[in-house]
Amino acid sequence: MARSCKSKVCNPALWPSGSTEGVSPEIIEECKELVMTNDHLQTYMQLFRENINRGLGKATNPNAIVKCFPTYVQDLPDGTEKGKFLALDLGGSNIRVLMVDLGDPDPVHTKVYTIPKDIMQGTGEQLFDFIADCLVTFIKSQGLAEAPLPLGFTFSFPLVQKGLKVGILERWTKDFTCSGVIGNNVVEMLQTALQKHGDIKVDVSAVLNDTTGTLVAAAFKNPLARIGLIVGTGTNGCYVEKQENAELFNEPDLGSGKVIINLEWGAFGDDGALDFVRVSYDEDVDANSVNPGKQKHEKMISGMYMGELVRLALEKFTKAGLMFEGLGSDALYTRHTLESSAVSDIERDRMGDYSKVKKICDSLGLTHATLQDHTNVRYVASCITRRAAHLVSAGLVVLMERVGEKQIAVGIDGTVYKFHPHFHNLMVEKIKELVGDTYDFELLLVEDGSGIGAALVAAVTAKKR
Ligand code: GLC
Repeated sequence: MARSCKSKVCNPALWPSGSTEGVSPEIIEECKELVMTNDHLQTYMQLFRENINRGLGKATNPNAIVKCFPTYVQDLPDGTEKGKFLALDLGGSNIRVLMVDLGDPDPVHTKVYTIPKDIMQGTGEQLFDFIADCLVTFIKSQGLAEAPLPLGFTFSFPLVQKGLKVGILERWTKDFTCSGVIGNNVVEMLQTALQKHGDIKVDVSAVLNDTTGTLVAAAFKNPLARIGLIVGTGTNGCYVEKQENAELFNEPDLGSGKVIINLEWGAFGDDGALDFVRVSYDEDVDANSVNPGKQKHEKMISGMYMGELVRLALEKFTKAGLMFEGLGSDALYTRHTLESSAVSDIERDRMGDYSKVKKICDSLGLTHATLQDHTNVRYVASCITRRAAHLVSAGLVVLMERVGEKQIAVGIDGTVYKFHPHFHNLMVEKIKELVGDTYDFELLLVEDGSGIGAALVAAVTAKKR
């Protein structure tokens, strides 16, 4: 397949991540609470193990925080799948529609549609009408209206699955709050919306989470893939579990004895379990979100919150007179003015160069920032990023233990992992430190994994039929 599934390489010419060289001692001191020690991570891992056990257990699941939803995907692709499939990928602020031709050297045709904010926070009917319109426009533009193709639907929110084609929305996460969807089967809602376009027939053959799509897409390329991870707008993981351990999974074994578990690990800590590492910025971000009290782990890690965490820290340090000579700006003191993409950019300057960090300070109206401020800003951003990368790494180690295979590949997608210049390296280093020689792991970037994986699940399902 032309889309890549590869190891990322980081650029050694950049400023090293987390270096304290030249950083003001007061800023280093203030940021200490953001540094995850290995003791913190060991405690986190133990809590995570316990949370997974509670999620998987039939008796404990109703009160579990990490829900561990069985996905009904029992088989990974083996790389021999062929045929044309459609995929619909809804998860962040975009909808992507894909036509994937698995036998073709140029297999993926994609169109991306931006979801307006009022649709993300409007009614469910409006959302699904919008999705159906995008899908139908794409199908017509590809000349696929006559012959219906099987469609894999990636719906990246917590779904209680009752089958491969039945996914009941448990709750919204990220920036979505559409009314009238929680408790309903999203496949049925999509089909109802599609019926308004009487001339178009679509055969939805599977609904899945983006983590599952990413794992499946990784497995198409690499037979060692057992874990899927997203670090993008949101964060979440999935892994291959033995059916006997997935007590809520009551389906006949189709032969593998395994089932993919969608952890919904963004919710980890919603009972206070992570309060030992959460700081005042985390509380602020949470209190001012559309879902206070929910997705506390996700709010420490993912792209939707990273920029705001950095901004809050800079605001605090400026007001304390530790940065910018105590002189802030309207933009610095306004919520959500710092995008997470800027957090990646801050660390993209080459050693000795300050142009990107300066541009970001300028864009916040901090044109009076000195070289010392620029060094401090980079350090603050790196502390937030490193914390996120270290938490995710410790989470992956727990999943490696659960899978229990010495050689293992992790399929990863999402803007933070993909675009942050140090995220991959930080993860590789931390995982190595935590596992020693126990696992021989590889972290693979799976571009468009959630969309391609949906097509592959549709393909594997078609093969089984
Ligand atoms: C949120 C969603 C989850 C998804 C993740 C990454 O945590 O609840 O389903 O996998 O974001 O997109």
